[in-house]
Amino acid sequence: MAETFSFKLIAIDGKARRGVISMPRGEIRTPAFMPVGTGGTVKAMYMDQVRGVGADIILGNTYHLMLRPGAERVAKLGGLHEFARWPHPILTDSGGFQVMSLSKLRKLSEKGVTFRSHIDGAPYEMSPERSIEIQGLLDSDIQMQLDECTALPAKPTEIERAMELSLRWAERCKTAFGDQPGKAMFGIVQGGDSAVMRVRSAQALKAMDLKGYAVGGLAVGEPQAVMLEMLEITCPELPANRPRYLMGVGTPDDILKSVARGIDMFDCVMPTRAGRHGLAYTRRGKINLRNARHADDPRPLDEESDCPAARDYSRAYLHHLVRSQESLGAMLLTWNNLSYYQKLMQDIRAAIEAKAFETRAAEISEGWARGDI
Ligand code: GUN
Repeated sequence: MAETFSFKLIAIDGKARRGVISMPRGEIRTPAFMPVGTGGTVKAMYMDQVRGVGADIILGNTYHLMLRPGAERVAKLGGLHEFARWPHPILTDSGGFQVMSLSKLRKLSEKGVTFRSHIDGAPYEMSPERSIEIQGLLDSDIQMQLDECTALPAKPTEIERAMELSLRWAERCKTAFGDQPGKAMFGIVQGGDSAVMRVRSAQALKAMDLKGYAVGGLAVGEPQAVMLEMLEITCPELPANRPRYLMGVGTPDDILKSVARGIDMFDCVMPTRAGRHGLAYTRRGKINLRNARHADDPRPLDEESDCPAARDYSRAYLHHLVRSQESLGAMLLTWNNLSYYQKLMQDIRAAIEAKAFETRAAEISEGWARGDI
């Protein structure tokens, strides 16, 4: 196993990249999708199943884990990998984004953010240094800088202020992280929907020579075309020999189109959250199992899948579980969805290696459009 963090490109097809991140806890095949395990659990899944569907890495959240059960407690219990029984790589988000969307009475200054917990109202402070300290206590393999993400639409002056603040916080996080050869700290490009700001942010982060770069502040209310345009502007400014991570994205269609523009890593609650709400992702598009038309349907979600949830249970049974609000409904649909997302990534990686990404992407999209009836 690798002793140091490294990223190697194996194949390039157009702007799409096939690579491997190596680090002491394992390899991450890119393009990669990271299932979201916010509070130390990928909801409704055993870690063995998460591994079984093909995930190389999962995501954890600084914000949630610092509030409950507490970073110091997790550290005493051996770190997040041991605590949650996931021995493979973990990436943690820095907390800024979740503070802004979930906490109460938040205040932001040059120093950092102060906020009250959404759980019990207790006051907290988080500086860039404390965010990195917490991510270290969790023993996270890929840590994210603290940043400020602006919701769109936003005024240009507001976008610029948040982007510049995020750059100063990136420097502080880099210093706080120091030299840890087996781990990485990624910077986050901000800049809203402004091409000028995105380029400035990417260039300044590139000059910091970080081990990886995320693109943040997207999928925050803007049309997909705007997100894709920002990727087209941002990716060429980032170093080719470092991984690029698009935060919080997205639908299977967002993923295909972002890979085509040079993105290597993704995370999103979509497959897990949708699974808990009765939605199944398949090769033939999305299926809403709540719908009455499934009540008598003996067919599985996908007879060709090797995922038991997709192959072995009738739609009628899944419909019954969802309608009865049974835990097993959420478990089976989450399993199906994460399996589908990982298969999509596998398919994408194979297509890039075969230099057939564009053709394969078109076929995959046609499959969704065709439907399954
Ligand atoms: N998750 C989705 N978008 C963002 C972002 O802009 N910043 C951070 N830290 N996390 C995110």
